[in-house]
Parts: sequence; structure tokens; C-alpha cells
Amino acid sequence: MNDPLSKTTVCISLLLLLLLPPLSAASPPQIISFQKGFTQLFGGNTNLLRSDDGNTVHLHLNQYTGAGFRSSNMYNHGLFSARIKLPSEYTAGIVVAFYTSNGDVFEKTHDELDFEFLGNIKGKPWRFQTNLYGNGSTSRGREERYTLWFDPSKSYHRYTILWTSSKIIFYIDEVPIREILRSPEMGSDFPSKPMALYATIWDASTWATNGGKYKVNYKYAPFVTEMTDLVLHGCISNPIQDLVTDTCMQMDQQLETIQYNNITRKQKSAMKRFREKYMYYSYCYDTLRYPVPPPECVIDPLLRQQFKETGRPRRHHRHSRKGLSSQMYDDIEDED
Ligand SMILES: *[C@@H]1O[C@H](CO)[C@@H](O)[C@H](O)[C@H]1NC(C)=O
Ligand SMILES: *[C@@H]1O[C@H](CO)[C@@H](O)[C@H](O)[C@H]1NC(C)=O
Repeated sequence: MNDPLSKTTVCISLLLLLLLPPLSAASPPQIISFQKGFTQLFGGNTNLLRSDDGNTVHLHLNQYTGAGFRSSNMYNHGLFSARIKLPSEYTAGIVVAFYTSNGDVFEKTHDELDFEFLGNIKGKPWRFQTNLYGNGSTSRGREERYTLWFDPSKSYHRYTILWTSSKIIFYIDEVPIREILRSPEMGSDFPSKPMALYATIWDASTWATNGGKYKVNYKYAPFVTEMTDLVLHGCISNPIQDLVTDTCMQMDQQLETIQYNNITRKQKSAMKRFREKYMYYSYCYDTLRYPVPPPECVIDPLLRQQFKETGRPRRHHRHSRKGLSSQMYDDIEDED
């Protein structure tokens, strides 16, 4: 230790340690390179581009095709996450989806957890929705729709899906935006079979923006979404063979202990604020569609007041703020 060089090294190491952010919800467990964890689905050599280190993927949409990939393995519960930057400027008609599914294996009884980002015309913000299906419950959509508190095309933000045997949490950065606690009455509507992680960009002109009013305009192509620092943390499972085995019990227990599974009081109030300010549709408040809210719905009295029987906010939104102008709510009212 008398060697001045090693002293310097120690000092630098200590300094680096101090500078590193604490291990928190913002730094999830296992970053997996594209080569190690993923397989291309579509987009050829032109529309799916990887960085040399394999940690970043660019997905392009042009007039010929979109692009997509999936995890090579399927997971029985897990933490799925990526830092994502969405296309900028005119993005109407475009959908960027980040989701888990097993639809390839179980056509009629698939499970699914979604983040779907919906593009918009120039100058209007991206919107997104979350959803879940279990055992083919496609006739019982559980959509929620939201705007964001930042411009998702300007910088990377981390989007995370936590799926355990008892709950599902969707996160943006360190903010939990939606938590679904498994209720016994949900039965098999709660996803229960191994799923793979998917990421895609595609042309959804028929519905993505104002119910199909604005289509993709290829004058602005290519539309590029960037994904980096992908995380797959769960029990790798064969969906056919492992359905009834308990090989994943240990991993399940481990998932229960990670910080993402334990929302702090501060995060809980951030979630509440997010939902009051940025959620503009929830199936739980859509009493026209579900006169009795599905069993997992926890009705928040304040939100109940804010939302009409269509599950959309009343026009004079008490919590409307800069960026969520009444003009925007008018647009929302127009939606299908
Ligand atoms: C899933 O759906 C199929 C077909 O409807 C049904 O046979 C099966 O029992 C369901 N699984 C569970 C766990 O409820
Ligand atoms: C979860 O968080 C609470 C406080 O927010 C803490 O008391 C508890 O020990 C945490 N549990 C785990 C498993 O980290």
C-alpha cells in the first residue's frame, strides 16, 4: 500500500463508488446484451440495428416494414425492463410496443402484459397504455391510458414490468404507475404461464392516433426507437414442460425480495399523483363497459369523482396542468 500508484487507484475507486448512484429501483439487476438474450422477429438487416457492444438496438419503421425482437427464452415470472427513447416529430399512427406474451405458444389461451406507446401529430405528446390478459381473456380488456410528464422522444427513460405470482407493477423510471394485486376472483385472468419479452415498432394507422384519424406519414420516415440496457430477470421456463413443476419456486422467492417488489411510501404517493394527473382512461371507472368493476380494481374516491362513466376524465379536469390543456382533453373526447 506504500506504492503511490495503488494509493491513487484506491482513492479513485472510492471516489467512483461515491459517485455511483445507490442501487435503487433505477438500477435493476441484470442487463443482457442482444446477442445473449434476444432474437430478431422482423425488420431484416435494414430496420433492426445493433450497437457494437450489443447493448443498444435501434428499431426502424419505414414504408417497407417495421422491426421487432423477442427474448430467446420464456420466463415464469420476472422483471422485464429497458431504457427506451421514442421517435420524435410527426409520429401519428405509430405504435411502439414493449410487452410480455406467450401468444406464439398458446394461441387461444395466451397471457400478456403491455406497454403500448401511441404516436401523435407534430407538437402533440405521445400517449401510452398498459394492459393485461390472462389465459386468453381478450374479451376482458384491462386498459389504462396515460400521458407522460416528460417528452419520451428527447431522452431515454426506463420502462419496467414486474410480474410475480402475487402482483404486477408497471414502472416508468422509479415511479410505479400501475399496480395489480392478484385477487382470487381474477382466476386465470391473472397471467400465469411463462412469457417472453417483445419489443416492436409498427404501423397502426387504423387506430393508434385519435382512433385512426391520423395515419403514418412516411414523408417523415424512418421512425426510429432506441432501446438500451435490457433487463431479463426471471426463471427461464419451457412453457410446455414446466407448467406444473416447481423449478421456479426459488426464483419466485427471490423476486419477492427485490426492491422493485417493494413500493416505498414515497413511491406510493408518486403513483397516486401520476394517476390523478396523467391517467385519462381506466377500465375500472368505465361503468358503461363494466357495470361491476373487475375484481382487482381498487376504486380511488378522488379518481371516481374525476372520471365519467366512460372511464374518461370530466372535461374540467381539476388537476389539469400546463401541457394537459383543455384542447388535449377535447382530442381525447374525440377518441373512439
Ligand atoms: C384456460 O382456458 C382454457 C380454455 O378456455 C380452460 O380450459 C382452462 O381451464 C383455463 N385455465 C385455467 C387455469 O383456468
Ligand atoms: C419494504 O419496504 C419497507 C419500507 O418501505 C421496509 O420496512 C421493508 O423491510 C421492505 N421489505 C423488503 C423485503 O425489502
